[in-house]
Amino acid sequence: MGILAKICRNRRHVYACLAVIAVLIILFNKMDFARQHQTSLAIEFGLDPFVFFQPDPTKPTKVIVLAYMHTGSSYTATVLEQHPGSFWESERLHYLHESSMGKNARHGRTIQFLNGTRRDLFTDDYVELAAYTVHNLVNCHHWNLDIGTLDFYSNPITMKHFEKSHDYFLCIANGKVSEEFVQDRILPVERINSAQIEKCYPRLVEQCRKSSLGVYKFIHLEMRSVELLLKRYESSNLKIIHLVRDPRAMLDSHVRKNEMGIADNLTNFEDRAKLICGQMMEDSIIGDELKQQYPGKILSLRYEDMLDQPITKVKEMYDFIRIPLSESVKKFVKESTHSTEFPSWRRHIALEHLLLTERHCQTLLARLGYVRLKDIETVRNTRVADHTSYTTYKECE
Ligand SMILES: *[C@@H]1O[C@H](CO)[C@@H](O)[C@H](O)[C@H]1NC(C)=O
Ligand SMILES: *[C@@H]1O[C@H](CO)[C@@H](O)[C@H](O)[C@H]1NC(C)=O
Repeated sequence: MGILAKICRNRRHVYACLAVIAVLIILFNKMDFARQHQTSLAIEFGLDPFVFFQPDPTKPTKVIVLAYMHTGSSYTATVLEQHPGSFWESERLHYLHESSMGKNARHGRTIQFLNGTRRDLFTDDYVELAAYTVHNLVNCHHWNLDIGTLDFYSNPITMKHFEKSHDYFLCIANGKVSEEFVQDRILPVERINSAQIEKCYPRLVEQCRKSSLGVYKFIHLEMRSVELLLKRYESSNLKIIHLVRDPRAMLDSHVRKNEMGIADNLTNFEDRAKLICGQMMEDSIIGDELKQQYPGKILSLRYEDMLDQPITKVKEMYDFIRIPLSESVKKFVKESTHSTEFPSWRRHIALEHLLLTERHCQTLLARLGYVRLKDIETVRNTRVADHTSYTTYKECE
């Protein structure tokens, strides 16, 4: 500043003085712009923005919602997504999960990365690859994903919460989105248009980078992958919400929708009960260990508590991610939660399903604070609690 003052005091240097001031103003604006937009300056200088801005405390928070089918996970993620400037990606492990099981007749185990590398995926590789994939998603490194995952940005047309990747989806569909295009999105790698993806993925990267909060919801993410994610990668801005629900309610939902043919086949139902409760148990145990090792990283939530005390629980969630709960989010929660009713599973679960669930989920129920109900009469009785801190439900007309 002293030198600048000296130059400017000298009349002969008036142009130099003006030039220096102009350069300073431009630089200052650029830096300010970059600070506001997180990445622009780093990109102009060809640096990895995350390295360049490492000490920046405004680094956006990334929230992973680890849930299961029928746990109210979409609702939970929607509540987080209400925060202005958020970006939401959902079920981005679907393609890899299907491939790792090799079960889907429509495509095999082969996956392909954007750089052309192909490999076969086996069940044992899934936990590792899921961690790698989630790491790349939350850090906006979409170019490291496999093309199946990048191709599976389905449903943005029909579901409101896919709005944020709508632009990308239209791009990979080349503007020609049909019902068929949306429906049949699990394609074998040979049929995926990777050139088109190559062209379009920067849109996702841009959306991801400019968001102040990223919400990533999965029903196929295991806590074992979260463990790798925390151990192996830089994760200072990462928060994990583990959402659980009474397995009796989850399985009853499955039955009512007859998913995986479990409604009229007890063997299938039993397999499903074992699988769901086994997975939730494992996730809960590992989750509790990780809570010790990484304090403040993982929050466990029961869907029932969200229904019992929506505002309290949503506040807890926002406190956990260290973002102030805004009035608009509160309003959204108040408008979208209805007065609690007697849980519908207790009105229709059949005795055989109840018994099988109790057999395979007993330890889990106790661990998560769900109350064992011994027979159908008890199940139907509204005055009997099914979870700890149960509120009395009004009779449903
Ligand atoms: C291609 O990308 C994958 C995933 O990012 C990576 O593991 C692999 O090493 C890359 N292959 C080449 C040849 O760079
Ligand atoms: C239930 O489904 C399995 C295949 O998932 C099949 O092998 C079995 O025969 C079915 N049982 C009945 C009673 O239909």
